[in-house]
Amino acid sequence: MKDILPFETVALNDEDSALVIVDQTKLPNEAEILRLKELPDIRNAIRTLQVRGAPAIGVAAAFGLYLAVKHSEARTFEAFAAELKAAKDSLNTARPTAVNLSWALNRMEKAAHRYQDKPVARIIKLLHEECMAIYEEDILMCRRIGEHGLRLLKDGDGILTHCNAGQLATSKYGTALSPVHLGRERGMNFRVYADETRPLLQGARLTAFELMAGGMDVTVICDNMASQVMKNGWVQAVLVGCDRVAKNGDVCNKIGTSALAILAKHYGIPFYVLGPSSTIDMSIETGEDIPIEQRAAEEVTTLWYQKPMAPEGVQVYNPAFDVTPNALVTAIITERGILRPPYSEALAADFSVITPKNTP
Ligand code: MRU
Repeated sequence: MKDILPFETVALNDEDSALVIVDQTKLPNEAEILRLKELPDIRNAIRTLQVRGAPAIGVAAAFGLYLAVKHSEARTFEAFAAELKAAKDSLNTARPTAVNLSWALNRMEKAAHRYQDKPVARIIKLLHEECMAIYEEDILMCRRIGEHGLRLLKDGDGILTHCNAGQLATSKYGTALSPVHLGRERGMNFRVYADETRPLLQGARLTAFELMAGGMDVTVICDNMASQVMKNGWVQAVLVGCDRVAKNGDVCNKIGTSALAILAKHYGIPFYVLGPSSTIDMSIETGEDIPIEQRAAEEVTTLWYQKPMAPEGVQVYNPAFDVTPNALVTAIITERGILRPPYSEALAADFSVITPKNTP
């Protein structure tokens, strides 16, 4: 698949010892490239959504952890492991919901411990390899998600999507938007409806931006217009990403996703969730156990407006994510294939065949 954006979402410049990201808080008006070298800046970039989207957060954190210890002067593994853990804990608390963050950091820490009998300089080289592997596997996983997801779509379909689960949320291709990009490359045409996705407008700012860059037919709608668009018969499939999927198939994704799932059921439209296996958290029984990030009131009341659009001091409820019950999900698509209900069984079977070799 060709690159549709002239920059990478997240990359490592090892020579410069920098995490390189496009500042997503400035898109679509400005594509400012940031080169971040210090741990607090990298943590802050994740916390403030300069880099965002579950897979991209994981990759950025892996690069960030490597950079945090790259110039370590520790003389023993114990001292090195303590530095690594401190940096890991700092990055891990940047955002609470997307499991890809802790998944990537745990994987990096485990790699270091696997090589603990080697000199620190060698362990650092191996950590470089590990974070590059996480990045490259993310690209591969997204590509495979696109292949599987495309089997569920027909040329000319109308697709409703939420938030941004495209190239800007991953190392490349995206999750929910990967089939759309892939289909387009193969000559298929889709009509995409992008929920603006209040309050941070990832749909209006990012999804519309990347789909237009790819020459696609995209229409932005306010979040409260989805029912009307579905009623008009314009939507043949809902495609969303995910930030964490529980063992029973409950799906945590950007706030508003569960409302779309309820609407899709009402109108008889398939509701598909697409994400890499790094987003599936088999340690969590149901969606009830997923921590939901609460964000600042200003994102709702003032961020996008010249003047506050709500009375000063009003109470604001601003959860960043919600949980869609598994009963509303038509299929979960990972790089490994298309899973259908009952998800407890499908996920258990899928994960039971993951071995260290094929673990992404
Ligand atoms: O708060 P964000 O912008 O990081 O939320 C992102 C989403 O909810 C995406 O839909 C999700 O991470 C899936 S991304 C492939």
